[in-house]
Amino acid sequence: MSRESPQQLVQRLIEGYRQTALVGMACQTGLIGELSGKPVSAAEVATRRDWSPTATQRLLRGLELMGLVTSAAVDGSKHPHYALTAAGEWLVATVPGSQSLYARLSLDQYLPGWSRIAVALTGEITPFEAACGTPIWEYRRNHPEAGELFNAWLFQQSSSVIDRIVAACDVTGVRRVVDLGGGAGALIVALLQSSPQLQGVLADQPAVVDQARAELQRLGLADRCETRGIDFFEEVPGDGDLYLLKSVLHDWDDGDCRRILGSVRKAMPQQSRLLVIERLLPETPGEDPQTVWLDLHMLCVTGGRERTLAEYRDLLAQSGLSLRRVIETGGPFRLLEAGPDGVLP
Ligand SMILES: C[S@@+](CC[C@H](N)C(=O)[O-])C[C@H]1O[C@@H](n2cnc3c(N)ncnc32)[C@H](O)[C@@H]1O
Repeated sequence: MSRESPQQLVQRLIEGYRQTALVGMACQTGLIGELSGKPVSAAEVATRRDWSPTATQRLLRGLELMGLVTSAAVDGSKHPHYALTAAGEWLVATVPGSQSLYARLSLDQYLPGWSRIAVALTGEITPFEAACGTPIWEYRRNHPEAGELFNAWLFQQSSSVIDRIVAACDVTGVRRVVDLGGGAGALIVALLQSSPQLQGVLADQPAVVDQARAELQRLGLADRCETRGIDFFEEVPGDGDLYLLKSVLHDWDDGDCRRILGSVRKAMPQQSRLLVIERLLPETPGEDPQTVWLDLHMLCVTGGRERTLAEYRDLLAQSGLSLRRVIETGGPFRLLEAGPDGVLP
């Protein structure tokens, strides 16, 4: 195989947007689902869905170039028939671990933000806001289908790391655990399932907890898990023994993090603990490229950032909280355990 020249490398990097768009389109429109049975021609798919046959054919050809689809001649037909490759199968929405929601979310909400990345250098607003008109959380509130897509993806994505996090959570002496910005509830559900003595509070924006309530009911956990629609800049439930903030602080700049942590500090009983559950930014990018990419993603989409351990320690201290220990999970997340330091800032 010939090696990619420096010029080819640059060209491939420039054209990366095409791939995000094509994969996202294939999931968003249901084109992938149309290919998940026996091989079909572009014309058959187009007829089923009332799509343009030529556009369907051309898009399938693009997916084939990307290795997501394969085509073969079929007896009795002059048109090639298309099927998913092993990689394409990962985009089928019903497959365990499917990447379908991520592909749709990336096209719908992330690509627009990234497309205005230059704004980050000078702007008062995030690249996402420059592209879509409002900060991301407001956008998701104003476009419920965008919020539901994000929450569904988050639930699925969190589920893949949750076992290690739950195993690392020390719930000794804990009666009531409050998951702040708990999203669709993946973490609190797993904690309640693993520790039957626990009561939970899932606290998030009102529309988000409304969506989570149905899932808690379906799992038979509604009587053990209260849901509270809150704005964590304004109020935090005051009756917890253990507070969780997973993948929340990385969404916000330092000033907003201090406001959130300040609300937590004000609300939490003196003997309670806080677990900040985040990835840590490495000293050198090569140690953990994924977290470095996520940091850029935060720059473009939420206006937040990934942080080093020292940066989290400082944020906690500035909010009247002391970092007491760092618990490894064996995965990308660390549990930063903190408690009130006795002095309200
Ligand atoms: C990146 S998600 C993390 C969700 C969950 N902890 C997880 O790891 O799966 C951040 C969460 O913060 C919530 N959030 C954003 N702004 C909020 C606010 N002002 N008050 C309460 N929750 C908020 C979002 O709705 C979202 O569920």
